[in-house]
Amino acid sequence: MELIKAINSRRSIRGYKSLPVPKATLIKILEIATRAPSALNSQPWEFIILGGTVWDNLKLAIEEQYKSGATPNRDFPMKPLTGVYRQRQVELGVSLYQLLGIGREDTEKKTNWMLKMVHAFDAPNVIIVSMDEEISCDQSMFNLGLVSQNIALMALEYGLGTCIMGALLDYPDIVRKITDIPSSKKLAIAIAIGYPDLDFPANKLITERESLENIVTWQGVDQ
Ligand SMILES: Cc1cc2nc3c(=O)[nH]c(=O)nc-3n(C[C@H](O)[C@H](O)[C@H](O)COP(=O)(O)O)c2cc1C
Repeated sequence: MELIKAINSRRSIRGYKSLPVPKATLIKILEIATRAPSALNSQPWEFIILGGTVWDNLKLAIEEQYKSGATPNRDFPMKPLTGVYRQRQVELGVSLYQLLGIGREDTEKKTNWMLKMVHAFDAPNVIIVSMDEEISCDQSMFNLGLVSQNIALMALEYGLGTCIMGALLDYPDIVRKITDIPSSKKLAIAIAIGYPDLDFPANKLITERESLENIVTWQGVDQ
């Protein structure tokens, strides 16, 4: 797929068909995606690819944690958003709830949506992007971001959709236990991947972007 079209058409997919992604396709995606640059060519990324029974077991285990009200304990916690960032978060939530027909006070539907989220929106496969604790730092996180975007773009080439997801990693010890990964592997981000269900209402969402004039400062660039 042409680059500009790929960047413009990628969006988070929050509803999938149940068809699993062929392993050969996942391999191709990762082979190309790992051409991403990284500081000093350190390539700090490692991937855990989930599908089948392991993924089913993990979904149930994460759901159980959510339902029990266990406190999230991410390896890389995110600060609560404030100001304009919080405003954008609220706008995202409002747009999604509108498309899904979830009212402000509709606790039951909101809970069901949360549960769908911790099931990675029924994606048949999930890629967990991790790094070893030895190299774990903010710059490695940046490198993992680059490879993650490559994965999301490469997926389009195969008619696949993705959703980059922090929510799946709220309970990293559970993920490590079920996937048999040692505690030295730090879980940065999860990427849901599968064939998009384009009729699913949430997949119609095209999110806004701030205009360049509010985020760019030109210095010595006149033409
Ligand atoms: C680091 C990161 C974490 C994210 N975590 C979640 C998540 O847990 N659940 C979710 O539904 N979307 C998640 N997203 C998707 C964002 O909400 C989405 O990228 C943003 O709203 C812009 O929309 P777009 O991807 O459709 O362009 C995440 C994206 C990133 C980059």
